[in-house]
Order: sequence, then C-alpha cells, then structure tokens
Amino acid sequence: MAAKHFYLQTFGCQMNVYDSQRIVQLLTARNYQQIADPAHADLILVNTCSVREKPEKKVYSALGRFRSLKEKNPALMIGVTGCMAQQEGERLLERVPFLDFVLGTKEFCRIPEILDAMEVSRFRESATDLRVGVDPYAGLPLFSSPGKAAAFVSIMQGCDNFCSYCIVPYVRGREVSRPSRDILDEIRSLSDQGVREVTLLGQNVNSYGNRSSEEIGFVELLEAVQKIPGIARIRFTTSHPKDLSWRLIQAFGQLSKLCEHIHLPLQSGSDRILKRMNRAYTCSEYREKISELRRVSPEISITTDIIVGFPGEDEADFQATLEMVKKIEFDEFFSFRYSDRPHTQASLFPDKVPEETKRGRLNELQTLQKDITLRKNKTWEGREVEVLVEGQSKARVEEKTGRTRTNRTVNFPGASLRVGELVKLRIEEALPHSLRGDLEEMGK
Ligand code: 5AD
Ligand code: SF4
Repeated sequence: MAAKHFYLQTFGCQMNVYDSQRIVQLLTARNYQQIADPAHADLILVNTCSVREKPEKKVYSALGRFRSLKEKNPALMIGVTGCMAQQEGERLLERVPFLDFVLGTKEFCRIPEILDAMEVSRFRESATDLRVGVDPYAGLPLFSSPGKAAAFVSIMQGCDNFCSYCIVPYVRGREVSRPSRDILDEIRSLSDQGVREVTLLGQNVNSYGNRSSEEIGFVELLEAVQKIPGIARIRFTTSHPKDLSWRLIQAFGQLSKLCEHIHLPLQSGSDRILKRMNRAYTCSEYREKISELRRVSPEISITTDIIVGFPGEDEADFQATLEMVKKIEFDEFFSFRYSDRPHTQASLFPDKVPEETKRGRLNELQTLQKDITLRKNKTWEGREVEVLVEGQSKARVEEKTGRTRTNRTVNFPGASLRVGELVKLRIEEALPHSLRGDLEEMGK
C-alpha cells in the first residue's frame, strides 16, 4: 500500500517536541511519511501550546493557513493536539469548522486508532480526558530518535504547584512520574541508536518520584543514567527553585556526565510579587541556592525565566527585578509579558498592569540582559571547550553546530566530523547568542 503523508507543526516547550517525536513514531509505524510541505499532506497535525497568549494566537493563524488546503482537498484530515487542544476541546471544533479532531495531552496516543476509524467513516472527535495518575507514555513502543546526537526524554507529566499565573496544571494535569524502569530502558535504547546526550524533561523534575513510595528520587535517577554506557552528557529541565534540593546541587559536583547548566525560573525579583505568584521562595533563598550552585560547580551556566507586568507589579517591584538580574548575572534568560490564562488565580486579580507599561519594562529588562549575556559569552573567547557535534549549522551549511556543556551553541568548520562526536574546540569569537569555534588551532 502506498504511504500516506503527514505534516506536523509543533509549538511550545521541549515537552511538546518530545510528544511530537512520539507522534511521528506512531504514524511512521502506520505507513505514514512525514513531509515538509502541508500542501501535499493527507494529514495535518498541529501540536499546540497555551502557556501564554502569544503562542495561542500563533496556533490560530497557523490553522487559518490550512483552511484553503481543506477546501481543495476535502479528504485531508486536520487534527490538533497538545495544551491548547486540552484547554479548548470541543470549543476548538466549533471555532475551527474544518478541524477533524482534537486530542488532549493524555490522548495523543490515540491518533492511530482515530485515523483507522476515520478511514471507515468520517466523523469529528474531541477527546480531552485528563486521567489522574495516568502515564500517557505507558504501553507505547520504545522511543526512537534516529540520527540524533541529543534527545529529550520525558520523565514526568503535569504539575501540582499552581503558580497563580500558570495554566500548566490545568492542561497537563496532576503530577505523574513515569516508572524509572521505562525511563532507563528508553535511555539505553537511545544510547544504542547513537544518542550521546539526554535531557530529562518535566515541569518540575525535582519532585520526580515523590508521589510514589516505590519509586526512586530524582538524584537516584540521575545516578542511574550516569551508569548507562554511551551516554556522555545528562541535562534536565525544568527545576522549581523551592524544590531544588541541596543533594541535587551537590550532584553537579559529583556526577561527571551532568552538564554544567541549570534552568532555574526566577519569575520576579520582588518578594511581594513572588508571594502573589505563589512561588513559595524568597529572593534571598533563591540567591543562596545560586551561590551554592556556583560554589559546587564554578563554571555552571544559569538561565532563567522572568515575567514582567504581573498584576500589581509596581515600579519598585520592577526595579527589584532589574537589581536581581544585575546581581545574579544570568548567562541567558527568557522574558515574557504577563498574560491572563484561563482558570488561573492571577487572571482574577484586579490590579492589571497596562500593556504599554509591560512593553516598556520588557524592553528595559531585555536591554540589560543583552549586555550581560554577551559579556558572559566573551569570557569563553580563547578557551578550549568540549562540544557535541549535533548537525549542520543553520547559517552556513558547510559548518557544523553543537553545544558546550554549559549549553552554549557553537558553530565551527568541520566538514568531516560526524554527528555524535565529542570534539575539543577553541572559541574564536563570542556573538550575542552563540559562539564561533575552531578545531584547527588545536592542530587537528
Ligand atoms: N504570562 C506570562 N508568562 C507566563 N509564563 C507562564 N505563564 C505565563 C503567563 N500567564 C512563563 C513563565 C514560565 C514560562 C514557561 O512561561 O516564565 O516559566
Ligand atoms: Fe506550552 Fe506548558 Fe504545554 Fe509546554 S506544557 S506546550 S509550555 S502550555
């Protein structure tokens, strides 16, 4: 039977990238081939994000582009998965009349079943059950990541923290850890396929295993991954500052494969705002953890997320955030204007900050961090670093790209290098978002 073709577009975080790879695997097993041009697809899938207003808008405009394809080819199937699918469910079918199906964050594994049924007779379906305690990956075939040097591995789903601005607990459900046996089998199999670096994913990896007395904890999980031959580098994301244990901090000094990078979302530099955000730590507690991380692992790169214009944030709160950013000197950050999200407590707070003010604050914060990032990047000039070759550079096809252990992207000439090799480079130049390196200086 001739293969059918599917086009998949992914929005949002690494968790969605991981789920999309799972979807590709399920479809490929069903004789579907992935293509890069939606105009030739039999099936279009959009894996969506709803964490902020902006990605949500992007999804609607992406869907709008597929309308004319459906008009030309009524047999074309279009489905939406991911967090927005979970949040909107039936409403999405009503709002986008040419959609065939909507599958929530715990239902994407049903795609093959739905496609089979639709081949018999066409119908419209929305499935958004957020089954408590259910691991959506249980029973799926072993994850594969062909031709890749680095892979994501989801270790848990959902979140129980209920930060007041955050939609995640409502779209990904209550926290549930995957069995460590499944995770370790998956990483062993990825290693057999040539993967050298794994990033363990979860909304709050520090509480891995906490909900089950039979399960190992996060540090034990890292120790078990450390023992897997073939795996050279381990990363994880995301950590919640309140749950970042001293034991985990010590692991940066003890586990040779654990890379010197941590993403630790600060969100605000004002204790008053942190309290309203329900973050359960103070700025001084956060700074203590940063000092300890830097003591244990002096080269560690620290990145963060910051929200500006949270309801009630006044000029003094914002100045406190600027001060924190100046004092801590993050290696890089992601910063966002606060936006109301459905179900969240903060969406009900009365004292909203005007868009104009949020824009101005975001600008000021980003200008400040831009200098810090470049300054930090420049400290790497002239130094030797270990880089994992991950593929061709985007800007220049004759070049290769990879990352340092501190998670900085490096582009470098190296036509003969294979994906998956670990190489030593000398950093020639620091740019605002990447580094340029060279092998030749090392006499290779
Ligand atoms: N508004 C703005 N930013 C948000 N984030 C999460 N929810 C919101 C919201 N309602 C940001 C946080 C989080 C990152 C993934 O997105 O900084 O860490
Ligand atoms: Fe977006 Fe959060 Fe869903 Fe990731 S888990 S896709 S960031 S809403």
